[in-house]
Amino acid sequence: HGGQGGPGGGISFEPVPPNTDDALRVPRGYRSSVVVRWGDPVLPDAPAFDFDDQSAEAQAKQFGYNCDFVTLFPLGRDRGLLWVNHEYTDEALMFRGYTTGDAATEEQIKIAMAAHGGAVVEVERARTTGQWKLVTKGRRRYNRRVTAQTPMRFTGPAAGSDLLKTAADPRGVKPLGMLNNCAGGTTPWDTVLTAEENFNQYFVNGDKVPAEQAPYIARYAIPSGVSGRRFDRIEERFDLAKHPNEVNRFGWIVEIDPFDPDATPIKRTALGRFAHEAATTSLARDGRLVVYMGDDSRFEYVYKFVSKERYRRGNDRHNRTLLDEGTLYVAKFTGDSPAAEIDGSGKLPTDGEFDGSGEWIPLVTGDKSHVAGMTAVEVLVYTRVAADKVTATKMDRPEDVERNPVTGAVYVALTNNSNRAAAQTDEANPIAQSKHGHVLEIVERRDDAAATTFAWSIPLVCGDPNDASTYFAGYDKSKVSPISCPDNLAFDRDGNLWISTDGSRLGGHDGLFVMPVRGRERGHVRQFLTVPIGAETCGPMVTEDQRSVFVAVQHPGEVDGASPDQPASRWPDGDQPRPAVAVVWHDKGKKIGS
Ligand code: FEO
Ligand code: CA
Ligand code: CA
Ligand code: CA
Repeated sequence: HGGQGGPGGGISFEPVPPNTDDALRVPRGYRSSVVVRWGDPVLPDAPAFDFDDQSAEAQAKQFGYNCDFVTLFPLGRDRGLLWVNHEYTDEALMFRGYTTGDAATEEQIKIAMAAHGGAVVEVERARTTGQWKLVTKGRRRYNRRVTAQTPMRFTGPAAGSDLLKTAADPRGVKPLGMLNNCAGGTTPWDTVLTAEENFNQYFVNGDKVPAEQAPYIARYAIPSGVSGRRFDRIEERFDLAKHPNEVNRFGWIVEIDPFDPDATPIKRTALGRFAHEAATTSLARDGRLVVYMGDDSRFEYVYKFVSKERYRRGNDRHNRTLLDEGTLYVAKFTGDSPAAEIDGSGKLPTDGEFDGSGEWIPLVTGDKSHVAGMTAVEVLVYTRVAADKVTATKMDRPEDVERNPVTGAVYVALTNNSNRAAAQTDEANPIAQSKHGHVLEIVERRDDAAATTFAWSIPLVCGDPNDASTYFAGYDKSKVSPISCPDNLAFDRDGNLWISTDGSRLGGHDGLFVMPVRGRERGHVRQFLTVPIGAETCGPMVTEDQRSVFVAVQHPGEVDGASPDQPASRWPDGDQPRPAVAVVWHDKGKKIGS
């Protein structure tokens, strides 16, 4: 691996100041452009986008809404396949006069269903710059849309179990569609792992399920009554009064092969069911495959899966079975400072750090449960309940989890937690009513991803650096950018941590930041870009050659009361706002961050 490129960690750009511009702002010397927007043709026969003449048939062939996880699979030096998640839809911004799911037209609901899921698009790079563009001509044989209605299959220990059976699928093996795919990851055999997050919101009548299911419905916050997008008006399966098990068929990690547009996406049940965030793979010292995952809700947990068998380079057939058998663990964090020194204010304990030790508690191995009173299938389908029983540590919205390719340390973004009382703080979640969130670093024992114990510390407590509650790894706080609500994480090849934010509470817009995590520059947070009004920053992805960084600009214009007649943002075209993937590169072809 390369070094850090000098004392600045290779990072030397002048930070973008906080702002509220309706624009994608990048540092001096950098340029940006939109790669692909909501509605752009994905399949070769897709019609051109027309905001005032949308149809579900067209949307199913066009780029979906609210792009989130982004990753690039190279097809040679200047071509590639971009995978993008389409997390959810903002109907009030997509359709004129939209009020509620009850009043929506059936076509509008069908459009929303088709705008969920994900997309594979072929992209190409201009030879002389880091700019990537959508390929708009030719066969584009890999291009694909996955939606809320794409046929999928279950594998792993819970596939075919009673909890996954429905009237339409009495064998419990063929779910339809994926929902709320937020972050994700890739496998060493070049497939996508895409994470179903807040799937609960798509179902109605959660209060009308059989009594034995009710506690699980509550634990997964499935809505009561009939409201929301009303997918149930199009497909009865979203009504839990009629099909109570349908909700168990969402909330999984889905594996998709971007190189085979006909391949059936696979919901991997061995990885558990929760509001999945991230699925970062890594190889253990002995070659077993490890997947790090978060559950992004207040007081939820951090998980990892360790495969039973080892990865074998080049043996695709074998490798594609790895995610079906292994052990699912949940993390427990123990502080090393006296509890009385953790008062919720962010004041560092006398040992100078929020830190301690931790263990990965096994929940299930193959079809053997480690949780008293629960079968293996129950642990996998009702994973949150299993984690409660083993007293794992309740975290401040664990979102992305990423492993540093240079040092092997693992980083967890903890976005915020307005509900944590001072009495509920612990050394791993030390801020009461955390508004700005923090980033936690895990060092696995012997730097082995399969280890069952680890050391941890908190290098970054976010917020306004003038605020005493913040901590930037001891770096001079007069020199850092304010940062709030860390969400997605990524590493560049030099091991610098890139952090995108969602829901900044500091007055400025969300954006992308970089922080070296080693040496004298550790903690030196600098803002690399800001996004338009109402948007959060997702993705991010620094290409292997470090000449380009992709970001997903999700939900521009998502502001209370905004509508197509009164848009809050006009990004990117000066017209209706359109969620889009953008790319940023240096004018002179320098490494991103220079
Ligand atoms: Fe979809 Fe946890 O953000
Ligand atoms: Ca997110
Ligand atoms: Ca400590
Ligand atoms: Ca988020």
